[in-house]
Formats: sequence, structure tokens, C-alpha cells
Amino acid sequence: MNELSAATAFVKEQSPDKPFLGLVLGSGLSSLAELVSEPIVLKTTSIPGYPASTVEGHEGQLVMGRIHDVPVIFVQGRLHVYEGHSVQKSTFPIRLLAALGVGKIVITNAAGCINPSFRPGTLMWITDHINWTGKNPLIGIKSVPSMGISPYDTAWTNQAQRIAQALDIKTESGTYLWTLGPSYETKAEIRAFKLLGADAVGMSTVPEVIQARALGLKVLGLSTITNFAAGLSDDELNHQEVLEVGKQVKADLERLILALIKQSVA
Ligand code: HPA
Repeated sequence: MNELSAATAFVKEQSPDKPFLGLVLGSGLSSLAELVSEPIVLKTTSIPGYPASTVEGHEGQLVMGRIHDVPVIFVQGRLHVYEGHSVQKSTFPIRLLAALGVGKIVITNAAGCINPSFRPGTLMWITDHINWTGKNPLIGIKSVPSMGISPYDTAWTNQAQRIAQALDIKTESGTYLWTLGPSYETKAEIRAFKLLGADAVGMSTVPEVIQARALGLKVLGLSTITNFAAGLSDDELNHQEVLEVGKQVKADLERLILALIKQSVA
């Protein structure tokens, strides 16, 4: 049995529900998994075939259960390529969710802002992306999936924007650029990324989205802008700031995610 089949069989044994919607939680957003009622929590270290975290204390969890009676599965603790995972391993959770039957996936992250009209605390729907790393999780497969029509589902994103408006939550939309990390960008890099058309920058999401689209999943992408990118403010960037802003927008995000899930079956 390969790793994916072993992991899929194990998770199916633990929960009778076929998840309808998956949600990948970004830095500082882990606590959103508390929205799941009567959760079944699986430590990823207990799942056969699941890639081991390379960072001690960063072990991930899958949280399965229901929200508004919709069967969901949350991925807490994503696998970043900058931790030393191959880009293929980093997208294992997406292949697992697809194998479990998920058809729609919300991918969240923390990102730095490049667009000068954004601020820390801004929520940005990702409408397109730039892969700045040259890495691709599909290397080795025979088909060449198109990313030309946005990999982020336009109808679902429009619906999400309307939901945010109805809840009086201000959101923006824009292009996310993926850097490998783990070092933050230089000022010159951010100036270059701005010229390329990026609105936000971060170290995740893009490989997961490419993998999800190749498997035919519908994708909704949401960035929490946690900081000004290098050179846009005088402050030194630090990871603590990223986690703090994540906590501040938590209440809005929770309301948004709950409403999104409620309407995702529509
Ligand atoms: N750069 C890259 N990744 C990030 C940032 C940033 O400014 N903020 C949060 N993740």
C-alpha cells in the first residue's frame, strides 16, 4: 500500500463521515478548528504515511466533524517547503483530503502586504498567484493542467465577498506571490514583486492550490495580511507580529468561515 492509500484508509476508519469541505489553516489561525462540533482530532504523527513535521512542537492535526451540519476536515499545521519538505510532500494533505472525498477547499494563510492600500488586519481573497519559487508539486505527472482560468474559483470567491459584505466585514482581493522562505524578503525583492503585480507575499498556499486544482477541487483562497512587507514600514519583521495580528482578526474570520461553510452546500 502506498503512503496515500495507507493514510486514507486510516482516516476513514476513524470517522464515518465523508468530509464535504476542507480547510487549511494558516499561521496564527489554528484556533479556527475550535468551530468544529464534536471533533475527532487525529495527530498527523498517528496517521500512517503522513509526512513527519521537521520542526519539533509543530506536529499537525486533522480535525474532523461538522459545522452547521456540513461534514468538514480542518488541517492544522501545514507542511511548508521551507521546513525542508519536498514540494510533493508539502502537498500530501491536499491529496489526502481529495482521497477522503473533499470537493471544496478553503486555503488560508498569513501574508505580508505589498499593495500600499492594504494594512495589517486586512483580509484578502486570493484571485490569482505568482509562483516565484520555480517549484511545482506536479513535476513527474504526465498531464499539464491549465492555471490560466483562475485556479481560485471565481463564483465561490464572488459568493464569499457577498457574504463578507452582508456581515459588514471589509475584505479586499488580490494576487498572492509565493516565496520559498524561510527568510523574509529584502526591500529590493518587494519593490520587484510590486512591479510584477503582487498585492501580498507569503511562503505557502501556491503548491497546495496547484495540487488541488490538478485534482479538480474547487479552491477558495484567503490571506490575512499580518504585516507590511519589507520596506513598506520602518519596523523589522518578526514572526510574533504575524501571530498577533492573526489573533486580532480571529473574530471576523470565525464569523466569515461559519457563514461560508453554511452556504457552501448551496
Ligand atoms: N513575507 C513572507 N511571508 C509572510 C510575510 C511576509 O511579509 N508575512 C507573513 N508571512
